[in-house]
Amino acid sequence: MNRPIGVFDSGVGGLTVVRALMERLPFENIVYFGDTARVPYGVKSVETIAHYARQITEFLLQQQVKLLIIACNTMAAVAHQVVDDLSPVPVLDVIDAGARGAVEVTRARYVGVIGTPATINSNAYARAIHRYDPNIRIFSQACALFVPLVEEGWLDHPVTRLTAQEYVKSVMCHPIDTLVLGCTHYPLLKPLLQGVVGHAVQLVDSAEAMAERTAYVLDRREMANPSRKPPDYVFYVTDVPLRFQTIGERFLGRALPNVRVVKW
Ligand code: DGL
Repeated sequence: MNRPIGVFDSGVGGLTVVRALMERLPFENIVYFGDTARVPYGVKSVETIAHYARQITEFLLQQQVKLLIIACNTMAAVAHQVVDDLSPVPVLDVIDAGARGAVEVTRARYVGVIGTPATINSNAYARAIHRYDPNIRIFSQACALFVPLVEEGWLDHPVTRLTAQEYVKSVMCHPIDTLVLGCTHYPLLKPLLQGVVGHAVQLVDSAEAMAERTAYVLDRREMANPSRKPPDYVFYVTDVPLRFQTIGERFLGRALPNVRVVKW
């Protein structure tokens, strides 16, 4: 099926998921939607996030997508049901993918989760992990400062390291062997975070887990694109803020072509 996969996020962060998808599924067409005019979502109320998620879903369904991927942990945490109720096509999300990844990786069955305040307050990761293994103990921490630090490009900066040390203290005082990076922005902090938590703790990158899950679902449902032509990528955003291109390309790991602005 050559219809595109629709991927959406509150801003440019979901491009970490697109990057993982491009690597894992190099023949799939992708339409991305990033709500750059209204980002960040992670500090907003559940009602507002659900309202935005509904608008984005309607937009992407009009683009004839064959599958929807909620790349934003915050939207996945509080608005998955809203998206699912609207969508005639399958809906996958990063929280389910990250939770499956954590269950596979942990041996100690003590898992840490970090994310935005909205994601952590929703308890969605704990619920998702317990769906697969109710005996896993989960310790979570909201890390509100990571999103602006990543967007500032401070990926290996003393301020970010100090902030990370402070945040992970509360999860590292438990014998965790797995830490879920429950936010689109955190994969970019992987080397720094690995240094802070040490090599005995395995990091679960929800973007990579998402790409694996997507490949599995496309195969199972026989929805993969049979074409071997170079795929089309289109990126819709609601604003082109300062340094958009630089930040977006950092997340995507390559040039960001075909950016179209949607005015609502
Ligand atoms: N995309 C959001 C997430 O994964 C982070 C940015 C935001 O707060 O909107 O939780």
